[in-house]
Amino acid sequence: MNIAIDGPGGSGKSVLAKNLARRLGLVYVDTGALYRTVGLNACRHGVAMDDKEGIIASLEGITVGIKYEDGEQHVYLCNEDVSDYIRTPEISMYASAVSSVPEVRAFLDGTQRRMVERGGVVMDGRDIGTVIMPNADVKIFLFASPEHRAERRYEELLQKGEHVTLEEVLSDINKRDRADRERETAPAVPAEDAVMLDNSGFEPEDTFAAAIRIINEKLGTNYDDVL
Ligand code: DC
Repeated sequence: MNIAIDGPGGSGKSVLAKNLARRLGLVYVDTGALYRTVGLNACRHGVAMDDKEGIIASLEGITVGIKYEDGEQHVYLCNEDVSDYIRTPEISMYASAVSSVPEVRAFLDGTQRRMVERGGVVMDGRDIGTVIMPNADVKIFLFASPEHRAERRYEELLQKGEHVTLEEVLSDINKRDRADRERETAPAVPAEDAVMLDNSGFEPEDTFAAAIRIINEKLGTNYDDVL
């Protein structure tokens, strides 16, 4: 079984995907981490976010890969584990900027397709149901109001010791949503056969239960024992 979870930033995709992976015995693939790694590399090279040519040039000679350590996904930029450096607000904006460049998407395509070929994956991102896994058994498009998503991200960032205000986080979310949705290549829009799940005000367990109901309905399974 392959499950695609798409949706905007802060909608809780990664928490849901991790829970589904753990309780259904699937491998979790966080594709946003790949775009974040390319964004980190561009940032380290001093490339401006709107410098498309510079972003393309920054791909030269690098490798971006995924490894699993103790069941956790780690992302590698060449031989360096950069997992701890890719979750800052600056790198979120870089990730969104580089993800609009078709050459970057093509660069990351192979890594994602190799994971799909292994099978038994739950993948989260923006174009999983539309481009990367159009044949996924279940596609969920997870979303929540920008205010709910900003609050979640704000709490996460505070816990990590980042100095941000709720207003800054909300403004970044709105900017990133617009850029991701309106880009020409693989825009962040739901697949036609995706089930829309609004989790505004939900706790992670509520989102998980709603996803299990969607899976049961779609596949005729009975996974209620994992709730
Ligand atoms: O899911 P995330 O916030 O870690 O993603 C970071 C950025 O990467 C997001 O703004 C858009 C981009 N992205 C994408 O274009 N396609 C994906 N499959 C995953 C992420």
